[in-house]
Amino acid sequence: MAQGKKLSILDLQKMKRNGEKVAWITAYDYPTAQFAEAAGMDMLLVGDSLGMCVYGYEGTVPVTMDQCIVHCQAVRRGAPNTFVLGDMPFMSYQTSDVDAVRNAGRFIKEAGMDGVKLEGGIRVISRIKAILDAGVVVCGHIGLTPQSSGQLGGHKAQGRTVASAKLLIEDALAIEEAGAQMLLLEAVPPEVAGFIAHKLTIPVLSIGAGPYCDGQLLIVSDLIGQFQAFTPKFVKKYANVAQVVTDALTAYIKDVKTGDFPADEHCYHMLKGEKEKFEELIKDYD
Ligand code: KIV
Repeated sequence: MAQGKKLSILDLQKMKRNGEKVAWITAYDYPTAQFAEAAGMDMLLVGDSLGMCVYGYEGTVPVTMDQCIVHCQAVRRGAPNTFVLGDMPFMSYQTSDVDAVRNAGRFIKEAGMDGVKLEGGIRVISRIKAILDAGVVVCGHIGLTPQSSGQLGGHKAQGRTVASAKLLIEDALAIEEAGAQMLLLEAVPPEVAGFIAHKLTIPVLSIGAGPYCDGQLLIVSDLIGQFQAFTPKFVKKYANVAQVVTDALTAYIKDVKTGDFPADEHCYHMLKGEKEKFEELIKDYD
């Protein structure tokens, strides 16, 4: 759907009504954003997963607003015609409604984002409402919420018991009721996610929440086989960039050591007639 035309939140909601799945990935930099837009990606997320995928942190918690803004700006430059959400990092909204609005506003004002995503259900409802009241598009995020993974006992799938599924359903209903325009479910069983997607009128997207949602999100570094530390069960790798890059670097090292690089075609030659004069010149240095 996204070929050439920037989607709005209304287009994404219409896709749900028409049964058209939304294709969504994360992006953290200018080239990836360019590739995604050229490929016709419906949406991008500048996720706080950039902490692991770009900075090599163990999790998302250390990521700051200033880091997010810089990456959002790069992605916006690379994908000017794509719907892009900024991901609110840990402690950018947990502290107060005022902080939530101020930081959501930075994503829009400083980085040209189309909206923000924040983690949590009922317990962040006042934050969601405050950001919406400021006129900003909001995507909720429940299920496995990495910023509070300590409370979840680790990066664990959610909604695998009836009691846990009920909590997710209550959170999802509250998020829609608050007025959020989208919802992301992370690491949730397909039947639970499918029920929520069916029940809600807003688009319900999945990352590891099975096929019955209104679209799918993957972390680009997982999708292209770049991130090596671990691979969640829900990831499908479409390329092995780590191998491609490592092979290229190994070949480069070999060529430098053997002198096969640079070859004649990689050299700037002297202008016509200058080489002879240059040879005369360097005789003076003998
Ligand atoms: O930061 C991110 O990329 C995310 C996804 C894991 C949903 O929030």
